Amino acid sequence: MEPIKVVVHGAAGKMGQEVIRAVCADPETKLVGAVDAKTSGDTLTLADGSKTLFSTDLVQVVSQTKPDVIVDFSTAKAVMPLVHLAAEKKVNLVIGTTGLPADQVKEIEQEATANKIGIVIASNFALGAVLMMYLAKTAAKYLDYAEIIELHHDKKTDAPSGTALTTARGMAAARGKPFVQPASKEKYESRGQVVEGITLHSVRLPGLLAHQEVLFGAAGQTLSIRHDTISRECYMPGVLMAIKEVTRRKGLINGLDNLLGLGK
Ligand SMILES: NC(=O)c1ccc[n+]([C@@H]2O[C@H](COP(=O)([O-])OP(=O)(O)OC[C@H]3O[C@@H](n4cnc5c(N)ncnc54)[C@H](O)[C@@H]3O)[C@@H](O)[C@H]2O)c1
Repeated sequence: MEPIKVVVHGAAGKMGQEVIRAVCADPETKLVGAVDAKTSGDTLTLADGSKTLFSTDLVQVVSQTKPDVIVDFSTAKAVMPLVHLAAEKKVNLVIGTTGLPADQVKEIEQEATANKIGIVIASNFALGAVLMMYLAKTAAKYLDYAEIIELHHDKKTDAPSGTALTTARGMAAARGKPFVQPASKEKYESRGQVVEGITLHSVRLPGLLAHQEVLFGAAGQTLSIRHDTISRECYMPGVLMAIKEVTRRKGLINGLDNLLGLGK
């Protein structure tokens, strides 16, 4: 079978570079082009010494390379123009960029359905993180109080993280109602953002990568579910799985849990 032809959007970024390495190392996928708002030159030299097309012009790269899948790790603002182009050119999409508002996700779903392409959106491609969310949803049915602490590197642009928001919404959906906020007569001076009754705390520090702890409280006990990423390699099995699956499916698959069959 021919390898799946992949273009990486956001190719000069930290995640983009990691995706390029992973796509080049997998015999079932082939990097055919790279796009970034910032490029130095018109080719990118890969680990094996070969060169691939590298440009700021997405339209040119897509027209020239005719990819099966575009993988996006860029910025939220860049996502909708990319989706419209992918829909027009009938190219499948894997979107890892976080911070997409709910109305945009709806529009992305409509574009995927109307144009019969596959689109995977996942705010977290790490398998362990998806399992952390799955376990948190299971516990959510039995415990009434919860808070989330998410900890990320200091360069992260959004807060709270997409994973923390997805976790909180998924936990509330699993129990069919919001969590209970601790009663306090005083107005707190400093607490995090409350989503579905769950207070989300965002830590940003150099030295961290991506970490999240879901804490449940009940009389006389707590339960903590924690996931830590050690390097960006942790996302690559999920990204490669999405690249392979998205060519076989039509419409929107929202979340790695749904790709893995762990949703609902
Ligand atoms: N889904 C996941 O598992 C996961 C994991 C890590 C990071 N992320 C998300 O991926 C995104 C990128 O993260 P990063 O750490 O690689 O960031 P980064 O800043 O290192 O890289 C982003 C890249 O996108 C490029 N870019 C910006 N606007 C662009 C445009 N209009 N067209 C093309 N390229 C453009 C930038 O020049 C940069 O090279 C963020 O939203 C981050 O939160 C998701």
